[in-house]
Amino acid sequence: MRQQLEDIGVKALALIQKADSLKELEELRVMFLGKKGELTRILRRMGDVPADQRPIIGKAANQARDAIEAAVEKRKRELEAREQEQRLREEAIDVTLPGRPVPAGGKHPLQVVTEEIENIFLGMGFEIARGPEVELDYYNFEALNIPRDHPARDMQDSFYISDDILLRTHTSPVQIRAMRARAPRLPVRVIAPGRVYRRDDDVTHSPMFHQVEGIYVDQGISMADLKGVLLAFAREMYGEKTEIRMRPSYFPFTEPSAEVDVSCTMCRSQGCRACGFSGWLEILGAGMVHPRVLENGGYNPEEVSGFAFGMGIERIAMLKYGIDDIRLFFQNDLRFLKQFT
Ligand code: DAH
Repeated sequence: MRQQLEDIGVKALALIQKADSLKELEELRVMFLGKKGELTRILRRMGDVPADQRPIIGKAANQARDAIEAAVEKRKRELEAREQEQRLREEAIDVTLPGRPVPAGGKHPLQVVTEEIENIFLGMGFEIARGPEVELDYYNFEALNIPRDHPARDMQDSFYISDDILLRTHTSPVQIRAMRARAPRLPVRVIAPGRVYRRDDDVTHSPMFHQVEGIYVDQGISMADLKGVLLAFAREMYGEKTEIRMRPSYFPFTEPSAEVDVSCTMCRSQGCRACGFSGWLEILGAGMVHPRVLENGGYNPEEVSGFAFGMGIERIAMLKYGIDDIRLFFQNDLRFLKQFT
C-alpha cells in the first residue's frame, strides 16, 4: 500500500507538471484528490491495514496528498502567470507604430472664393447681410422697380411656389431688406452673399448659383465711390495690376447702370480666347440706386444716394482659376475639389 501511495505520488507530480492549461490541471486535481480520486480510493481501504501499520501508512498518505496539493498550487500559479503574460502581449499597444492617417476635408472652391470676397468688403467697412432664398415677388421684383409686366422679368424666369412667392432670382432683394432694417440710419453699407435660382442650364449657367450683392447708401455717394470700391475689390481679387472699365448698361433698379469688366486675368489684356480677344472680362452689374428703390427701402432720394452692385460668385471663381464649365462646382468630383484645398 505504501508502494501504491508512492507510485500515485510520482505519477501525479509528473502529470501535474506537464498540465498545459488550467482546465487540464483541474481535471488532474479531481482525478487524484477528488471524492472518487485515486488517493481517496486508497485511503478508504485504511480499515484493512493492520493497526500497527496505520500511523505509517496514514503519514505516507498525508504526505502524498500534501505533495499533490502543493504541486497543483504551484502549477496553477505558473499557468495563470503564463496566461496573464499572453493576454498582455496580445493587448499591448505598440506606441512606435505610425498613426493611421485621418482623411482631411477641405473647403469647396465656392466657399473659398465667397470668404475671400467677404473679407475684401469687410476690410472696406461693409457688413454681411443675408436674406431668404424663398422670397416674396415683392422683394425680388416689385420693390426693385420691376413691375409684373416688365420685360426684364423674362431674363430671370424662376421657380414659383405661388403667384407671390418664388425662389429668388438674384440677391438684389436683400438691398431692400437691408435698407428697411436700418432706415433711417446711415450709412447702409452691406454685402449679401447667397444662393439664387433661375431657369437656366448650360456650361456657364446653373439653375442654382451664387451671387454677392452690395449696396452703399449715404449722403453724397457718387459713381466715383462705386468705381473706387470696385477697383479696390478687383485688385485684391485678381492682383494689383488689374484695371476695371465701366460700360453703360440697363437695370431697372439702378440709374445710371453699368456693366463692369476687369482686365483679362489670363492674358494681361493682350487678348486671348478667354476674353474673346478683347482684353476684358465682364464680372458684374452695378449702378446708382434708383430713386424709387431708395424710397421702397425707406430713404428719401432727395437726401441720400447710393450705389449697388451684383456679381456671380461662380463667374468670379471661374475667371480666377481658369475653370471653363460651371457644372464642375456641383458634381462633387474629388479630383476637381481637391485642387483647391
Ligand atoms: N441683380 C442683377 C442680376 O442678377 C445684378 C445686379 C446688377 C445687381 C446691377 C445690382 C446692380 O445691385 O446694381 O443680374
